Amino acid sequence: MITAYDALFASLFAEEVDMILVGDSLNMSFNGKPDTLSVTLEQMIYHTNAVCNGAPETFVICDMPFGSTNTEEEALAHAVEVFRKTAADAVKIEGGAERAAIVRRLADNGIAVMGHVGLLPQSVRGEGGYKVKGRDEKSFEKVLEDAAAIEKAGAFSLVIEGVTPELAALVTRECAIPVIGIGAGAETDGQVLVWSDMLGLFEAFKPKFVKRYMDGATLVKEAVRSYSEEVQKGAFPAEEHCYK
Ligand code: KIV
Repeated sequence: MITAYDALFASLFAEEVDMILVGDSLNMSFNGKPDTLSVTLEQMIYHTNAVCNGAPETFVICDMPFGSTNTEEEALAHAVEVFRKTAADAVKIEGGAERAAIVRRLADNGIAVMGHVGLLPQSVRGEGGYKVKGRDEKSFEKVLEDAAAIEKAGAFSLVIEGVTPELAALVTRECAIPVIGIGAGAETDGQVLVWSDMLGLFEAFKPKFVKRYMDGATLVKEAVRSYSEEVQKGAFPAEEHCYK
């Protein structure tokens, strides 16, 4: 699984992955905000539409933004809005056992839900930072309980983020649904990365779990520099770029 926020990149990724997540991480890498919390439902719907347009045959999941799923009623109304206004196949909801009733309500109403347990980026302000889970017994047990509760509530799959590999492996063994890891070691059923991280385009910071498969930022800057230099010295446009 990979994230995408627009039709162009979604179309490039579509043939290479099983699922595309329109992650609320777009608020950081696409919108330049310090965390994911300020993205709106309207913005998520806009980007989900673009991704669905670019990858019409791919399973697309829309991340439900912070504050949009606080109650069962609100969550259902907002998820229905996503389904009405986009061609998304599923929504993703961050949170553990305390959100199980919300996941159940959506699943009971025909909305496929992906859970998200472990490190929860939407809790960054509440927890005072991005806290890796599973290093102590309390958080280890909590994530295990969270995963079991979200599966029992009817989620079709689960993202597990920012936990020790041992914890992710145990959750994967204990859950019958596919468990997709990010910063969770190699023993999960699948992996997800934020596209702009793995292509090396997002330079602000690089979490430990990110592998840059390309030095995108350098490639882009070099290309734009060449373009700018060629324009300034009159080398572009050349004859082959001109209409006859
Ligand atoms: O918002 C996002 O991109 C995510 C992934 C990191 C799983 O939730």
